[in-house]
Amino acid sequence: MTDKNYYITTPIYYVNGDPHLGHVYSTTAADVCARFKRLAGYNVHFLTGTDEHGQKVAQSAEKAGVSPLAFCDEVSQKFRDVLEPFQISNDDFIRTTEERHKKTCQALWQKLEASGDIYLDKYAGWYAVRDEAYYGDDELTDGPDADTKIAPSGAECKWVEEESYFFHLSKYGDKLLDLYKNNPEFIGPKSSYKEISAFVESGLNDLSISRTTFDWGVPVPGNDKHVMYVWIDALTNYISALGHENGENNMMDQYWPANVHLVGKEITRFHAIYWPAFLMSANLPVPQKIYANGWWVVEGEKMSKSLGNVITPETLLERYGSDGSRYALLREMPFGNDGNFSHENAVGRINGDLANGLGNLAQRSLSMIAKNAEGKVPANNGLSDDDNILLDLAYALPSQTETHIDAMHIHKYLEAVWHVVGEANAYIDAQAPWKLKKEDPDRMKTVLYVLAEVIRCCAIMAQPIIPTGANKVLDQLVIAGDARTFANVNADSTLTSGTELPVPQGVFPRLELDTAEAA
Ligand code: MSP
Repeated sequence: MTDKNYYITTPIYYVNGDPHLGHVYSTTAADVCARFKRLAGYNVHFLTGTDEHGQKVAQSAEKAGVSPLAFCDEVSQKFRDVLEPFQISNDDFIRTTEERHKKTCQALWQKLEASGDIYLDKYAGWYAVRDEAYYGDDELTDGPDADTKIAPSGAECKWVEEESYFFHLSKYGDKLLDLYKNNPEFIGPKSSYKEISAFVESGLNDLSISRTTFDWGVPVPGNDKHVMYVWIDALTNYISALGHENGENNMMDQYWPANVHLVGKEITRFHAIYWPAFLMSANLPVPQKIYANGWWVVEGEKMSKSLGNVITPETLLERYGSDGSRYALLREMPFGNDGNFSHENAVGRINGDLANGLGNLAQRSLSMIAKNAEGKVPANNGLSDDDNILLDLAYALPSQTETHIDAMHIHKYLEAVWHVVGEANAYIDAQAPWKLKKEDPDRMKTVLYVLAEVIRCCAIMAQPIIPTGANKVLDQLVIAGDARTFANVNADSTLTSGTELPVPQGVFPRLELDTAEAA
């Protein structure tokens, strides 16, 4: 077993609504990183799950006329059901209503208390149930009536006054600023780094960390009139899933601190300010990186039930399948930016890069091998400079793309692999093996050999992105299961000439755009 460990998490999803494209996006992004690191030889722990406590979920359950737990059971299952069809390779799925999680929350609370960072007082201020967040006066604008203010996120805030425990967050301002300064990669992308640094520089208030006006939460140890504020509860999931002080298998030594918490840009504040402060107070290491993904709008509009433009996981699967959805979501916008999802663009990408790009490269090359090289991996009769240039591009992919993944520039990883696919397609045109068939059959075989080799490398590298299609391509090249890791993307583990190949089959079908939507 290798000692290289990698722990990546998605946000845990609120169960007040059903899963949609935004959730599939962040889970898929994390999945690509997890699969990448496994193939790069790491022990990977990939966590996702559901965030089930708090006033928002309690209200949704009440509306639905069921108990909070019954409500959570049902919606959490829907989030779980989305994973397999999108080929999500999570190692664990945590629910905040599980015993293991409650135990860790209470243990963490006691540590903060022991550090002298928790005190009882009264909270009086604005609260947005939609965001489950407290806002300062200076952040708000006037709402439709005197009782309501509007948060920068657009959420309605109401005045709340109740007894509450507080966390001494103000004490951690300088420590957090030091953390950011000494670790410029701690928060990404740069825009989030700047936003969070500026927010902390402007001064932090202590944070209200318990509620008394409802009971759907983890009880505060020693005072069960209070339940924990849903964010202290939710953030703790990242260590409860590692068995931190909850009697489960303790994996903290192996996987903590996390390499990356992948989060949405609107929840970076909780992850990059509150979470490290709690951890510092508990004398635990802070995560290595908080990376914020941007938001998708759909055909120019924010997704919303009222506009009826929510793209469901089912729609994505029906139209694009798992590979197509994964590819389109991650290739369309630079990771960290906001973007506009349109069916026209998705179809364009999938046809351009999967059907015409990798699909066509494999199909053309394998058909020529079937017709002109007896359906066997051809012999390499000596490599030309052009051959070596192309092969070297392919062999450079593992180290080149790992840099992108470590920086969470997921789109650059995709671009790098597809750059080689593009070069290989250009190579076929330039080498014109169909002409060589008569003129120089030995050279034709070498060209086909080089193509098969480049396809092998690109398909190995593409597995994290499009696991189904990439593995079908590797099947067609008869690559053994254990020879599909990145350690095999080099000249030492090339194809064996003479290996008999199956009859080639198309892997990535071309899609038609529904003409009504193109209009
Ligand atoms: N429960 C909290 C997270 C707690 S983590 C300790 C939460 N849940 S959420 O369900 O509202 O959002 C989860 C993630 O989905 C966020 O990272 C958010 O950015 C992402 N997305 C939701 N809609 C999205 C888009 N339209 N586009 C991209 N991602 C979006 O916040």
